[in-house]
Amino acid sequence: MLITKVYSPKELPQAAKELQLGELIAFPTETVYGLGADATNAPAVKRVYLAKGRPSDNPLIVTVGNPAMIKPYVKTIPATAQALIDHFWPGPLTIILPIKPNSLPDAVTGGLTTAAFRLPNNHTTQQLINLVGKPLVGPSANSSGKPSPTTAQHVYHDLVGRIAGIVDDGPTTIGVESTILDLSVATPTILRPGAVTPEQIEAIIHQPVIADHHHVGKNEVPKAPGMKYKHYAPSAQVLMVAKNDWQKALDWAQKRSDVGILAPTTLALPPHFTHELTYPLGENVNDFSANLFAGLRYFDDDEKIKFILAPKTDFEGLGAAYMNRLQKAAGNTSFAENTLPE
Ligand code: TXA
Ligand code: MG
Repeated sequence: MLITKVYSPKELPQAAKELQLGELIAFPTETVYGLGADATNAPAVKRVYLAKGRPSDNPLIVTVGNPAMIKPYVKTIPATAQALIDHFWPGPLTIILPIKPNSLPDAVTGGLTTAAFRLPNNHTTQQLINLVGKPLVGPSANSSGKPSPTTAQHVYHDLVGRIAGIVDDGPTTIGVESTILDLSVATPTILRPGAVTPEQIEAIIHQPVIADHHHVGKNEVPKAPGMKYKHYAPSAQVLMVAKNDWQKALDWAQKRSDVGILAPTTLALPPHFTHELTYPLGENVNDFSANLFAGLRYFDDDEKIKFILAPKTDFEGLGAAYMNRLQKAAGNTSFAENTLPE
């Protein structure tokens, strides 16, 4: 068992030193916390998979502290990539580009000829990476099978004893993982929706973008998260509730004591729904995204909860990313009166 140290943003030199020695340090970003290791140190990267319990053919994001840090690895920076980098970095857009052969360990790329690059919009983490002087791999810092962590406490809960430290910079603001855009293919393709939308990308690169729904077969190397591996779903059944169905859903839930609610603050809840049965999600889709994973973790720790009600939103803006994570957690199941258990 390792002692997992919690670092404040003032203690970055110590955290950077650990990373240079090949240790694992979790870091904050604007989306979710990442699990860092020196991306050029293959044994360190391999320990990231072990710490998370993650399948080792699922490639890792290469997280940089400034845009120039991608140069030793990429073949060229196409004009589209440069325009997106200039516009969206630092920010929640991960870009996949072809890399120079053997410029990164196979443990990072999963043996692919491309890598995913990201510059997070978090000053503490930019400083940390620049102190290390090397890019860090940065998968979400949850153990495999748990929702991505949006606080240092979530990381501690999942990985204590398995990693050397966590840099605690408070809760993340966006709450869902970055948009992943594949620029290594003929038509730019979104592999995972996030806060940067296809429309925003199209407006910068002046060409159409595919929002892909391809499913990967057993023997294929996965191109994006959630395509091959079972994505996070809690042991309780999540039921997505459309705006007009809340009254019916609450009527049903009020007759039971095993239903938790991820509750929009605009929803008037009867007294039956105590603090224990309610996790406040906020007012709008930005709040819902910021709080979804923490809310799912809240009910995960409560064995008597068998159902979780959660609000559906439209697919505009951040709605696409929020609904993507919610649909996965719910196995795409909506609240419907006629299919509910007694
Ligand atoms: O917001 C985020 O992106 C967070 C924060 C910590 O930066 N990171 C994150 O990493 O979500 P992770 O590993 O949980 O998800 C990244 C996904 C992987 O599941 C992998 O399938 C995909 O990116 N990926 C990485 N490299 C790839 C590549 N070369 N080609 C296609 N997909 C790739
Ligand atoms: Mg992840």
